[in-house]
Amino acid sequence: MTSYHPAAVIVLAAGEGTRMKSTTPKVLHRIGGRSLLGHALHAARQVAPEHLAVVVRHERQRVADHVAELDAGALVADQDEVKGTGRACECGLNALPADLTGTVLVTMGDVPLLTGQTLVELTERHESSGAAVTVITAELPDAKAYGRVVRDGAGDVVEIMEYKDALAHREAGDEYAHVVDVREINSGIYAFDAQVLRSALAEVGTENAQGEKYLTDVIGIARRDGRRVAALLVDDVWQTEGVNDRVQLAELGRELNRRTVEHWMREGVTVVDPATTWIDADVTIGRDTTVRPGTQLLGATTVGADGVIGPDTTLTDVEVGDGASVVRTQAELATVGPGATVGPFSYLRPGTVLGAGGKIGGFVETKNAQIGDGAKVPHLTYCGDATIGEGANIGAGTIFANYDGVAKHRTTVGRHSFVGSDSVLVAPVEIADGAYVAAGSTIEGRVGPGQIAVARGRQRNVDGWVARRRAGTATARAAEEAQQAARDGAVDGEARHTSPEPTPTQES
Ligand code: UD1
Ligand code: MG
Repeated sequence: MTSYHPAAVIVLAAGEGTRMKSTTPKVLHRIGGRSLLGHALHAARQVAPEHLAVVVRHERQRVADHVAELDAGALVADQDEVKGTGRACECGLNALPADLTGTVLVTMGDVPLLTGQTLVELTERHESSGAAVTVITAELPDAKAYGRVVRDGAGDVVEIMEYKDALAHREAGDEYAHVVDVREINSGIYAFDAQVLRSALAEVGTENAQGEKYLTDVIGIARRDGRRVAALLVDDVWQTEGVNDRVQLAELGRELNRRTVEHWMREGVTVVDPATTWIDADVTIGRDTTVRPGTQLLGATTVGADGVIGPDTTLTDVEVGDGASVVRTQAELATVGPGATVGPFSYLRPGTVLGAGGKIGGFVETKNAQIGDGAKVPHLTYCGDATIGEGANIGAGTIFANYDGVAKHRTTVGRHSFVGSDSVLVAPVEIADGAYVAAGSTIEGRVGPGQIAVARGRQRNVDGWVARRRAGTATARAAEEAQQAARDGAVDGEARHTSPEPTPTQES
């Protein structure tokens, strides 16, 4: 991606994030299908640093485990009880080789919209300018509680002053009283010369409004020592925005989604209603697919070309082939083959694999079910722990009874077999290739190739029952009228009813 590869990226993620009011550490909160820290690691990897270190402290084990899960090559550095971004950075440096030279980028675990491309630009700008420090800044209409960038008459950055300290200066009415009104803010993302950073941090103290060791103090120290400090002012202010509370979490989540949806539209996907469409950062979608309103494509979902997804569909870690249609569906860890159709009102649970051109229709729930090419489960079915061969047809209302109260068992339905409506297939059971099951059957034993299994009570009709047991009802009158009409027809000589009037056998 670039000819400039920094020696290291240090991601600061040790803070508690008290304003989230959460038992989950701030950097593990998620937007766009990734944790905030996951976004930071993803961006960091795009500059291909030699070393990547994440500084942790609050909920140390949870955050460290998360880092290990996301990026096996990342180092975890522990921050001690000394507080502040400066100390965090020092602890990160201590986890890296002591003789490290070159550029060290520092980023924050809670700034999720920062892109790898911006880190590439930062590295390039820093290395080509010869500055000892380059800080990413942004101009905001409201600088809120961000650190203020203080420039001299020539426009060079001389220091960064934290908001609380700037407030104190205003109260004192001294020469820095105006700094609180500065709208150019410190993003907290920097490129440093490794040696300058190490020696400056050793000097930084905790004499400030928060009693913390500020990373921002490195800038004043570098200037004092006659080094250059440069700024990279970014126009895209979202990239510098940190998450401090749940309101910001939602705002950044919505903006990230807006960007992701726009990206896919530019790649040739029709999104009917971007405002109600949510697409996670790691999802991919093929060209000429249409995404209808109310759709969420989450996790590692991949959708092929020329498909239709939605409306009102949530797919989590689902693979959808080319030309498939998935309508009003909830699905997770499932595969939908090319040209297959799913929905409306279908629920595909983990392990569902629908073959090419297959169908899972309305009010069907599937789990751990391999459904072959061209096979159909069209209506009102529970299909769990099943293997269904190609071209098989499962009638409306069929239940795959997979659970005996203790263990789950599998059902197999062979190629081009036909299961009649309202059947119960009691697992473990096998229906061979080319077999039939009569509607309404409860199947407990194997059905061989070419056989039909009929497993239901024989029909028995009791004459005159309605007249005797439901006398005076509308039903009895309807029966009387129908029987009269039949008798009149017989009188007219029409062959209306061919069977002789049956005689009652037994009353029930
Ligand atoms: C910091 C900057 C401020 C900047 C802002 C941008 C300092 C002193 N201030 O302020 O100039 O405008 O970020 O968002 O650097 N962290 C640690 N260990 C700590 C404290 C923080 O690892 O002891 C991590 C946090 O997990 C977080 C990041 O550093 O990822 C920023 O910490 P935060 O407390 O939010 O700093 P701000 O006060 O926002
Ligand atoms: Mg912050």
